[in-house]
Amino acid sequence: MSVSEMKSSSSHNSLLSGSTLDFQLSNLFASGLDFARGIAASDFTSLPVNKDAQMIALGFGLPDPELFSIDDLRDAADKALRTDGLRALQYGGGSGMAQLPEWIRTIQAARRQIPCQPGELVLTHGSSQAMDLIARVFLNPGDEVWFERPTYFGAIKIFGLRGAVERDFPMDEDGLIVDAVQEELARRRRNGEPLPKLFYTIPNYQNPSGRSMTLARRQQLIHLAQQYHFLIVEDDAYGDLGFDGEMLPTLRQLCPSHVLYLNTFSKTIAPGFRVGWIMAPAEAVAKIREVKAEGANGGFVQEVLSRFLESIDYEAHIAHLKTHYQSRRDAMLEALERDFRALCEWTKPSGGFFVWLTLPSTTRLSQMMAFSEKMGVSFVPGTAFYVGDGGQNHIRLSFSLYPPEAITEGMKRLKQLIESVQP
Ligand SMILES: Cc1ncc(COP(=O)(O)O)c(C=O)c1O
Repeated sequence: MSVSEMKSSSSHNSLLSGSTLDFQLSNLFASGLDFARGIAASDFTSLPVNKDAQMIALGFGLPDPELFSIDDLRDAADKALRTDGLRALQYGGGSGMAQLPEWIRTIQAARRQIPCQPGELVLTHGSSQAMDLIARVFLNPGDEVWFERPTYFGAIKIFGLRGAVERDFPMDEDGLIVDAVQEELARRRRNGEPLPKLFYTIPNYQNPSGRSMTLARRQQLIHLAQQYHFLIVEDDAYGDLGFDGEMLPTLRQLCPSHVLYLNTFSKTIAPGFRVGWIMAPAEAVAKIREVKAEGANGGFVQEVLSRFLESIDYEAHIAHLKTHYQSRRDAMLEALERDFRALCEWTKPSGGFFVWLTLPSTTRLSQMMAFSEKMGVSFVPGTAFYVGDGGQNHIRLSFSLYPPEAITEGMKRLKQLIESVQP
């Protein structure tokens, strides 16, 4: 059938289905799913980002595409097709299927000293799918998942879609205030109330706050997981992008039995590959593999990434990214120090992509959003990062997408925008 024949036959089908009375597709949606909760990452990433446009988009937490290693990736794709292409494109894939997990284990052991046996690793379609798989394996509707406040909106959405009851706990400059979690756990145990099954945390350069959890707090949270029998979902999406300060041990290193560790190539190679992974106790990994219904990640993608990783110096690649992102972070913090002291407070991240601003409580966030297009600068409203109400006088800025000069210009516009919405 030609494409035009296919088109005319599909319009014929839609005419037929249109004539069926009383059919309401929405009646068939599953009940009990909170579709409206949180914001999916795709709500932002599907928007086009044209860096030549008038708008300086400080909201997007996107890696800069100009830092993608496009030449090396082109060579890797070419090699993947030439050397093992027929197998890589077939069900089951080629040699990359075995090699990529090995690369991931090698990189994580070398860079972060995270030990991992082959049976403790499963590849996923980004860390987003990792969360979804974890939710499927561990959650019944009504089970509780606890978070930091604020937290990554994608996680709020994904666990919410599996029917989780969600609750968040405050942070300060040292990360999650674990004492608050401890108090609530003790209260629940005393009263015979349900305990959480999962605690989702981003201990390094958190999205959206840019904060990192101190070692003492990490140890305290681990202790609670052991005492109250819940699992920690450790999302380390930005962990490789630390600029200064100490690189602290991951929660997985501190206690592998109580941690489901997530990471991704989205920030360090390119999100378009959709390759992330879970490192977890072998028993959990075996269950996660069972619910990964589509099977393994794509063989071709794994082939290309394997060829890419064998052809580059990964350490030098990360160092290159860090140099660029650090200079952007510096440009944003300099602008804040110079021009925003009288206006607001902000976090000082030692890595990652984000700075979190606390605006005067009188700020009208909705007005700020309405004016942002006219002022040529955008941000993400703090409300997106809360499980419940809150965040009205916060915004998230990202320094990842633009070179320092554009960040400086964006911050000039942001200052005017904030000033324009004060009463
Ligand atoms: C903390 C955090 N986790 C997970 C993700 C999603 O990553 P992936 O592209 O691997 O699904 C993001 C992306 O913004 C993120 O900030």
